[in-house]
Amino acid sequence: MTEFIFPEDFAWGAATASYQIEGAYQEDGKGESIWDRFTHSRGNIVNNDTGDVACDHYHRYREDVVLMKELGLNSYRFSIAWPRILPDGKGRVEQKGLDFYKRLLDALLEVEIKPLVTLYHWDLPQKLQEKGGWENRDTVKYFNEYVQLMYRELGDFVPRWVPHNEPFVVAFSGNFLAEHAPGYQDLGKAIQVAHNLLLSHGMAVKGFRESGLNGEIGITLDLNHVYAASDSESDRLARNYCDAFNNRWFLDPIFKGKYPEILMNLYQEELNKIEIEDKDMDIISQEIDFLGINYYSRAVVSYDEDSFFKYKQLAPQKSEYTAMDWEIYPEGLYDLLKRLNRDYTSKPLYITENGAAFDDQLTEDGKVYDKNRIKYLEKHIKAAHKAIRDGVPLKGYYLWSLMDNFEWAYGYSKRFGIIYIDYENKQRRILKDSARWYQELIAQNGLKDL
Ligand code: GAL
Repeated sequence: MTEFIFPEDFAWGAATASYQIEGAYQEDGKGESIWDRFTHSRGNIVNNDTGDVACDHYHRYREDVVLMKELGLNSYRFSIAWPRILPDGKGRVEQKGLDFYKRLLDALLEVEIKPLVTLYHWDLPQKLQEKGGWENRDTVKYFNEYVQLMYRELGDFVPRWVPHNEPFVVAFSGNFLAEHAPGYQDLGKAIQVAHNLLLSHGMAVKGFRESGLNGEIGITLDLNHVYAASDSESDRLARNYCDAFNNRWFLDPIFKGKYPEILMNLYQEELNKIEIEDKDMDIISQEIDFLGINYYSRAVVSYDEDSFFKYKQLAPQKSEYTAMDWEIYPEGLYDLLKRLNRDYTSKPLYITENGAAFDDQLTEDGKVYDKNRIKYLEKHIKAAHKAIRDGVPLKGYYLWSLMDNFEWAYGYSKRFGIIYIDYENKQRRILKDSARWYQELIAQNGLKDL
């Protein structure tokens, strides 16, 4: 029998995000967010879906916490919607919004589930977008005010904070690829947004240290391990470009206090126009307590002279893919964890998201037999275990996602949950087979292969 048993204090969790699950989009004084605006404009989202109701978690959080407990989670990662707290992004505080998160935290702590709180999972107050959003340096200041308020109000109940989730996606999917809110196609804008997000991350860390709170603070990055399609010099160069674009543009400033040169050359024209102050890099590279990693797939690239970034991504043929058309490649998680530990930090690492969308079917007997998801999870958790065995200080695993939810540009057409949401049928929650499987895994703190 082979055993994959994890360290005793390992965090077993699941993750969600406010806009993707809460609904109640204009209840209790909540202000409009850029995702409300983006989804309400037709043509942006598959089926014109919106997060207006989503999983109605805002009203059903108690029921959801009971399910978390049933699964045996010892931690839960969720995000706070900035416009629920500050409807205009700054100034007036909405007590009812604050109370919602206090109730949620109470419910979690009552059943001994440790919260990991994300402060920005993409739902910027629309009012701030109207003043330029993250492209405007003032947003950094307002974010800092919001973050300070959260430390004061919730600091005693939150052991672990993640001010930002996936700044790459915020900056580039939202401002360069136009796939996400606010929906621009402008490289200069994306680079400025990336810089301001990093700066606001650094300020959040600095403010946290000054607050004297006991918890820990980090950041969550979406990282792809990048492989060259061949050993040729040009393909290796392509790999370096892709790695710099996806990973190093964020890792290097945080851990090394500078942007990677290979891209600085490529971005020269844009960088000349954007606002970066001398002291920024020092603020950005504040020491953090842990790094959160969202891992879904890898990238395989070859050289492409005609593309601006000098690479094109390939879809390896023999591989299996999820419903998102993302290649299933658990070895990439191992390679990534080893690389981060080797090249960037010896601090604790957390997998803050990992999981897969598949075309789940709810059967007539009310079950979801999602074997493919179990297989995906099992392979990735084994890869994580191997990394720990080989010395990586990995401290926790958060499955994406606790429940099916609003998958951004794909709306409800993609299901990532281990809990099935029957949207048409009173939002019924149904544990998929993967949920039962995860429950057992947590109970034995790992896997046992017969
Ligand atoms: C991440 C994101 C999540 C979730 C997931 C699956 O990029 O943080 O909100 O949607 O991807 O696509």
